[in-house]
Amino acid sequence: MDQTGERAADVLVADDRIAEVGTGLRGDRELDAGGCIVAPGLVDLHVHLREPGMEDAETIETGARAAALGGFTAIVAMPNTTPAQDDPAVVSAVLAAGSRSSCDVQAAGTITKARAGGELAPMGELHALGVRIFTDDGSCVDSAGVMRAALEYAASLPGAVVAQHAEDDSLAGGGHMHEGDWSSRLGIPGRPAAAEDTIVARDCILAATTGSRLHFLHLSTAGAIELVRAAKARGLPITAEAAPHHFTLTDAACASFDPIFKVNPPLRTDADVAAVKAGLADGTIDAIATDHAPHRTEAKERPFEEAPPGMLGLETALALTLGELVEPGVMSLGDALARLSWGPAAIAGLADHGGPVHAGSIANLCVFDPGVRWVVEADALASRASNTPYAGQTLRGRTRHTVLRGTPVVVDGSPVR
Ligand code: DOR
Repeated sequence: MDQTGERAADVLVADDRIAEVGTGLRGDRELDAGGCIVAPGLVDLHVHLREPGMEDAETIETGARAAALGGFTAIVAMPNTTPAQDDPAVVSAVLAAGSRSSCDVQAAGTITKARAGGELAPMGELHALGVRIFTDDGSCVDSAGVMRAALEYAASLPGAVVAQHAEDDSLAGGGHMHEGDWSSRLGIPGRPAAAEDTIVARDCILAATTGSRLHFLHLSTAGAIELVRAAKARGLPITAEAAPHHFTLTDAACASFDPIFKVNPPLRTDADVAAVKAGLADGTIDAIATDHAPHRTEAKERPFEEAPPGMLGLETALALTLGELVEPGVMSLGDALARLSWGPAAIAGLADHGGPVHAGSIANLCVFDPGVRWVVEADALASRASNTPYAGQTLRGRTRHTVLRGTPVVVDGSPVR
């Protein structure tokens, strides 16, 4: 599969590039792709690798291995590490570890120092190291003044994108799940859809006045998606992503009181899930991003209101996309791969990723079997953590091989790095 369609062919790789696509090609080493789709490597704009600071939940090495097993050849490492990626030394260390890992790692930088929402981080210095996405993810930039200043600063940095975790803390703070019927019934304080919708509305206005590139992380509400649709129709330079858990799960899952289903923004209603799917289908949402958020088992086994938010995503994203979006006909396989590969690659400026599978392209490839069924086993995942909400479920479609710059990093479903 490439950006222009699907055909049966061999793909010959020489060094780090695709040398030829055709039939009857032979090489020194051959990977069987019978029954598989050969796609551009997947790209994840939103991954928490936890290093530095929370290495007992994940490291750059283990997170990148999980990414490669999921078919990803490039990931963006979120900056809510400890210390935060608000400093050139921290970002340099993340990039150095990433360069030794199983996929390309682009470091995101924070918008504000220590993600505290006040003083801007040294965005120019971080940009000089290769940072393109700036975000305080995990926290919203609540101050409109700070957000406008960040957008103005980013406009002077080529390729820079300001990415907002859109949840107004004055509305969502103290909440642990979506505010609605289920939160009332369960007696768990809620995080209302309005917390997301109001920030998206405000930031669309700020993007319009500054002309800067703005990206919305993990959109989860019908209202926010409609606002982005309208902003895009006006030609604003806005992009958005959605996470697989927001098109596969609803707040009803929280009735189990199992914190495995606790995430920010929270799992929402059936109507919101339908809106996320529609937004992905019509391109309002440009990218599927996992928001892979590993947490130690002991932390996730605490009572719902004390447990940290977040769930794993790297190793299940492709299968969930195929099962929930492609198989039922919500979108074509080509459009799904656009959201998983070349869409996010374009947002992050990752020119070596996202295909097309043509002679001359860098050989970053995801070879997946769309038909194979497999059972998610939390402890068998490559991630150091095991907080997947899909444990025990049978999914369809899995990566067989992942090739990073011409080098196989996953072969027959096993990591080789
Ligand atoms: O659920 C979440 N977990 N949402 C975020 O924005 C941050 C993430 C984390 O870092 O655990």
